Amino acid sequence: MGTKATMGLFGQLLQEKVNQLKSRATPITLGRIQFRSPLLLAPMSAICTAPFRLLMQELGAGGTVSELISCHGINHGNQRTMDMLKLHPKEQGVGLQLFGEDAQSMAKAARVAQGAGPDFIDINMGCPVKKVVSKGGGSALLKETASLGHFFSTIKRELTIPLTIKIRTGWDADHRNAHEVIRIAKEEGVEFVAIHGRTRTQQYSGEADWTYLEDLGARSALPLIGNGDLHHARLAQKRLAITGLPALMLGRGPLRNPFIFLESFLSPGEVSPFTARDYLEIIEVLFELMQQAGAKDRTLVIQMRKHVMWFAAGFPGASHFRSELFTKNDLEQTLALTRAYFTQLEGRVKQINYDEAFMTSGHG
Ligand SMILES: Cc1cc2nc3c(=O)[nH]c(=O)nc-3n(C[C@H](O)[C@H](O)[C@H](O)COP(=O)(O)O)c2cc1C
Repeated sequence: MGTKATMGLFGQLLQEKVNQLKSRATPITLGRIQFRSPLLLAPMSAICTAPFRLLMQELGAGGTVSELISCHGINHGNQRTMDMLKLHPKEQGVGLQLFGEDAQSMAKAARVAQGAGPDFIDINMGCPVKKVVSKGGGSALLKETASLGHFFSTIKRELTIPLTIKIRTGWDADHRNAHEVIRIAKEEGVEFVAIHGRTRTQQYSGEADWTYLEDLGARSALPLIGNGDLHHARLAQKRLAITGLPALMLGRGPLRNPFIFLESFLSPGEVSPFTARDYLEIIEVLFELMQQAGAKDRTLVIQMRKHVMWFAAGFPGASHFRSELFTKNDLEQTLALTRAYFTQLEGRVKQINYDEAFMTSGHG
């Protein structure tokens, strides 16, 4: 994989391109938390594991948040849940996101999660999934404004590191109460609020309401991080400039374009320097990081196949490659096919069709 240059994860050529763009980043501070730049990786279940978070960090994400982690899983000492708390020693500006409905259980789990060494603990208040919402967790918390103050303060009491929340605009179009949730959060000492610009009822349909987010940001008592549909770097740059929000979160965008954070540092007219060769290199790095994290072969195949499929989006022959990938069940074959596909693309650049729907469900 080439010589490692200047302490990065990548070979010299890619590392130089990465360092060049990262040197343009402007650090920000939200409450007591410092981030390397204003574009952060949004939490995504079964995706934002330590290896992927570190990869995104090294590729310019200002900060990251884990996948949602069950407070009950932590309190029961469930091994799979406990594994989700593990950070990579090189991670910085990282939050662990917990979900649950009951203040005491969340507080107990938050204390354990804090012990894993994150920079902040985040509460999932945006998950629209029935299994979570029917128990009162995720976005159902938005409806419980009477008990929210107690919910936040009970959790906060257990923490020495900052507490943050990620919400939606409200439960449905008639109950868009983000401003009220923010007011309560501010009173209880929450550090910042990330907000997906849709209601729970909308799930992932329609478009994120950026006018609402902009208005909310202008009168928010807490730093507000806007999120929703920022599928490419130019759009993220534009939203950052127009809304005046201090930071934004990107979820699905980085899955198809892992260079999106770095591309946000490009000036108008400057062309992205990243090609298929760079994609192959970061696939190899991600694979190595997942192996180091102890992923078993079967998990590696499933995880790698998912990422590789998204990374292939927009390159010539991607759909044929994707169907072939699904016929491979072992690691060696998966890697061999991936290497062959990206190698023959050489220095090609991708053209993503942003009009095509991409991943229209998730936990926030
Ligand atoms: C596959 C997937 C999983 C997600 N998991 C979580 C999660 O665990 N916690 C959370 O707060 N949001 C989760 N979300 C929501 C994202 O963080 C983000 O709010 C949403 O995708 C909108 O942003 P985007 O348009 O940039 O993707 C998930 C989204 C997707 C697509």
